[in-house]
Amino acid sequence: MIDCPAPELHSHSRVARRLAIAGCQVDFALDCMTERGSASAEAAWLAEHLVAARLGCEDRTVRVAPLQPSGRPVAMVRGRPAAVHVSVSHVGSMIAAAACDSAGIGIDIVDPTEAGRALDVWFTPDELALLPDDDGLLRARLWGAKEAAFKAARLDDGFRPRSVEIEHLGRTGFRWHVRGEHAAVCGQGIFTVADMHLVAMAVAADAAEAVACS
Ligand SMILES: CC(C)(COP(=O)(O)OP(=O)(O)OC[C@H]1O[C@@H](n2cnc3c(N)ncnc32)[C@H](O)[C@@H]1OP(=O)(O)O)[C@@H](O)C(=O)NCCC(=O)NCCS
Repeated sequence: MIDCPAPELHSHSRVARRLAIAGCQVDFALDCMTERGSASAEAAWLAEHLVAARLGCEDRTVRVAPLQPSGRPVAMVRGRPAAVHVSVSHVGSMIAAAACDSAGIGIDIVDPTEAGRALDVWFTPDELALLPDDDGLLRARLWGAKEAAFKAARLDDGFRPRSVEIEHLGRTGFRWHVRGEHAAVCGQGIFTVADMHLVAMAVAADAAEAVACS
């Protein structure tokens, strides 16, 4: 998990970084939506900037749109599928996007004030015991990790939090495993903090590792 030079991104992006997660280069951006904007549209727009910067093409040639019926966002360049995976998240006025060309990517923003004990129904006793809750962020970490992992897995099943297992949890990273209806996917992830929110980012292991983890 090494910080690399930030990608060339639109100056509007408040945070724009390139990170290495489990050996995969991930570009991510965080921003606040405009006053009258739509969080979905602006998060997709942020993802389009990342894809354009990654591929070195013009922003206007890139579109990020939901694949139906799952809703998973996919990137297209001039109407053709782009060789870059994308993920977006929005909470309140915060929007975030991530892009990666070597692995499935998932990003999730969690407001820790909304990640209380009511979520415990989705966690196993083993998951709740993975890390002491010294800083009150245990549930935000577990929930963010599960949602980011679900997105990175690209299984296009419905989101079933208990089918996403968090196998290792640290303050800065996690390992995960998703049991889908037809396949299993595993991977790793990291956490970062921005504006009092926790941001989880997950990358899926490549196909060979995924077979090994199923
Ligand atoms: C993925 C999901 C858990 C995220 O919800 P959330 O944490 O409340 O919201 P976030 O803002 O963090 O993420 C929302 C984004 O996740 C993305 N997303 C939605 N479904 C996704 C999926 N299956 N895989 C990956 N990403 C997905 C979308 O880009 C969405 O943005 P949008 O609302 O602007 O379209 C939720 O959207 C979900 O449950 N999706 C599954 C829908 C489903 O069951 N579909 C039916 C059958 S397959």
